[in-house]
Amino acid sequence: MLNQIEFLKTRDGSSTIYLKHMDETYHSINGAFSESLHVYIINGLKKIDQDQEQINILEVGFGTGLNALLTMDYMLPHQRINYMSIEPFPLDLETINQYYKEFCHLPYNTPFISHLIQSEYQKWNVIHERFNFCLMNKKLQDLTDFDYQMFGENKVDIIYYDAFAPVKQPEMWNTEVIEKATKALNNKGFLTTYCAQGQFKRNLKSLGLRIEGVKGPLGKREMTLAFKE
Ligand SMILES: C[S@@+](CC[C@H](N)C(=O)[O-])C[C@H]1O[C@@H](n2cnc3c(N)ncnc32)[C@H](O)[C@@H]1O
Repeated sequence: MLNQIEFLKTRDGSSTIYLKHMDETYHSINGAFSESLHVYIINGLKKIDQDQEQINILEVGFGTGLNALLTMDYMLPHQRINYMSIEPFPLDLETINQYYKEFCHLPYNTPFISHLIQSEYQKWNVIHERFNFCLMNKKLQDLTDFDYQMFGENKVDIIYYDAFAPVKQPEMWNTEVIEKATKALNNKGFLTTYCAQGQFKRNLKSLGLRIEGVKGPLGKREMTLAFKE
């Protein structure tokens, strides 16, 4: 794996992974940490009613696990989280350890990364008493209703949609594939993503979702929120 990738320092001092064969990075080069914090925590986890105790999160693209670690960092003491992450091409532990070594400011919960990446696939793993984690080792396209039943009746509160950019992986942004994820949302659920592409937003609208454009992370004008209600 290590010969197919490079670690790049982003503008906020955190790192990202550059995939040579795709000419694509896992995060914004303007700041991996800042992007994750802005898109998935401030405009995701923190947009949920803060009195809600049980929160179900579905992530598309586990990658380095940065979004999961920051979710653990920013969850409140009374909250319990079920976090399912879809990742057909998991990075190995050596690569992930190397990735976090390059960080100038680590998420507080970074020591949990080995538990996350080594957890048993396709089932809930208790990472700590308030954080359950399930790594779905398959493509979003292959997820079934049976997989979503793992969330129980409450279904999904937030989707962190963190696929590679539409120019690099167009198949992740078409209506059929987005519906694979958004069908799991409950009535108050929403999707958050760094992507603000026009066609993607039209695809979300065609699925009956209400779009809200909000200010993007460092160096980006806009990002997208899409609400079920
Ligand atoms: C932008 S990167 C993920 C960033 C990740 N959240 C992080 O913080 O490192 C996109 C991720 O989507 C994964 N991916 C690729 N094809 C996928 C598919 N069909 N379904 C779900 N995830 C996919 C990639 O392997 C990669 O880890």
